[in-house]
Amino acid sequence: MCGITACVGCEEAVSTLLSGLDNLEYRGYDSAGIAVPNGASLEVVKRSGEVAELARRVRRDRPGGTTGIGHTRWSTHGEPSDENAHPHTDCTGRVAVVHNGIVENYASLRDRLRASGHVLDSETDTEVVPHLVEEYLAAGATPVDALRATLGDIDGSYAIAMVVADSDRVYAARNGSPLVLGLGDDANYLASDVPAFIERTDSVVYLDDGDVVAIGPNHYEVTGADGRVRDRPVRTVEWTAEDAEKGRYDHYMHKEIHEQPRALEQTLQGRLGDGVALDDLADETLDGVERVAFVACGTSYHASLYGARLLIERGVPASAHLASEYVTAPPPARAGTIVVGVTQSGETADTLAALREAHSQDQPTLAVTNTVGSTAARECDDALFIRAGPEIGVAATKTFSSQVATLALLAEQLAAREGTGRGRPFRRALAALPDGVRTVVESDDVRSVARQFRDSDAYFFVGRGTGHPVALEGALKLKEITYEHAEGFAAGELKHGPLALVTERTPVFAIDTGHNTEKVASNAEEIRSRGGPVVAVGPADSPLGDRADAHLPVPDTDPALTGVLANVHLQLLAYHVAAELDRPIDKPRNLAKSVTVE
Ligand code: F6R
Repeated sequence: MCGITACVGCEEAVSTLLSGLDNLEYRGYDSAGIAVPNGASLEVVKRSGEVAELARRVRRDRPGGTTGIGHTRWSTHGEPSDENAHPHTDCTGRVAVVHNGIVENYASLRDRLRASGHVLDSETDTEVVPHLVEEYLAAGATPVDALRATLGDIDGSYAIAMVVADSDRVYAARNGSPLVLGLGDDANYLASDVPAFIERTDSVVYLDDGDVVAIGPNHYEVTGADGRVRDRPVRTVEWTAEDAEKGRYDHYMHKEIHEQPRALEQTLQGRLGDGVALDDLADETLDGVERVAFVACGTSYHASLYGARLLIERGVPASAHLASEYVTAPPPARAGTIVVGVTQSGETADTLAALREAHSQDQPTLAVTNTVGSTAARECDDALFIRAGPEIGVAATKTFSSQVATLALLAEQLAAREGTGRGRPFRRALAALPDGVRTVVESDDVRSVARQFRDSDAYFFVGRGTGHPVALEGALKLKEITYEHAEGFAAGELKHGPLALVTERTPVFAIDTGHNTEKVASNAEEIRSRGGPVVAVGPADSPLGDRADAHLPVPDTDPALTGVLANVHLQLLAYHVAAELDRPIDKPRNLAKSVTVE
């Protein structure tokens, strides 16, 4: 949600910034801008619209320079417009700032600044930052001290990057929104996320909350609010630039759907043998755990619902909570409960807030995440990585499958201690899951179904057991990238209200995951007798197949994993319907990946 990029000492700052913004556009695409110091002044170019708009503008009038900051925005305060685009500058034009997050007390700060003669002309909360910095600079502070003093005035969460005229450095600070430094040979980089600069370096330093950093071409210094130097480890990123590129695919989403067999192999690698081995967990992490409470949002919440069911089936009490609701009424803390935050990015503000709530109640916490160095991974007592590789498409696909596989491993590990694990047959089924997914992806059976139903009034998804979270996920995927109305229901709930929505123009996707299949089949009959077309999604021999207008078959597997395979069909359904309707699949309107505000 909003992407920051910066470079110091690059051959040509503008092209480095533009390619960084291009790689970060999944974080927001309302508007974009750059600022490059040029002697005693700054050159600032910003536009509403996508990064391509900015690139067109810059082509005509290209600022020179080796240092700069850039931003791609997902608006919170103020509509997408040229004025509201970042960077924002102060009255003198000597300070430019890009910001991710929210300045909560911006209204009082704006009044204070106006009273002392500042002219603020955007509607954003960010604009107060350069004006405050400029006041401290005018009073004689160095840029890094001026930034630090400004942070003392601000309430809220932020990642901030700043350039100042007459300086060849970038200054930055983090509190609640991610920032990572990239260390090159003769240049350094800064960004909200590694894809911004992965083609230039894989050597990174993740900043922590409270860090302030001054970055030069060959050095950097991280300090805290007190000005003392802080040591941050240098790490190597384990994936490459190609992993974060579209390659031969038209869309990241399509590529990431196709990457699922490989992603799952990585998720499972080294974790299946005579038992389940979750080596990245400390020995004591699961000690004394009797109950699991998941907190998550969106697709990760659906994976959590799925994971909770796998635990319950093994006799381990488990519940899944929408993170944003968990904080409104946190369940009473109980000894033996571990709170598990499931989050692809590890940066989702709602999930972090729920985990912090659990932490404040002295409950042990675990992050299940795709992102090494993320806030969730660092703030939780321990972290279990899903190892799906970078996911760029705004719609989460491969990370759902890898999350469910990881939670299945966790369920087996916890159940094994009680002697209620499914043991070798289930481990074998998990090991074969990548092949099963490969079969579904390669068959692409769903393309003709997508074409057949592309002009529907709405799309419904129903399932029981693990089929229920898959129904919710199928509907979420479809609505977010096609903009068509879609709902997922527990199949048994249909007759309690939603059946009223069913017509011959509302296909219903009935998911058979082996839970009460006969009842799902009866629900399918109820739909068809009201004229609703039914598409069965489940094993080739599912009784639903005979009672449906079309059947999307999934390979045989342990029923607990059928839902993962069925879900891949639904990902492809959403993708193909969106393609038929010519939607911007990787950049759905109003959305951004990694939602860092509550
Ligand atoms: C939907 C989607 C979102 C995310 C949600 C949580 O396709 O991607 O619903 O699942 O914003 O994000 P993470 O997993 O990063 O916490």
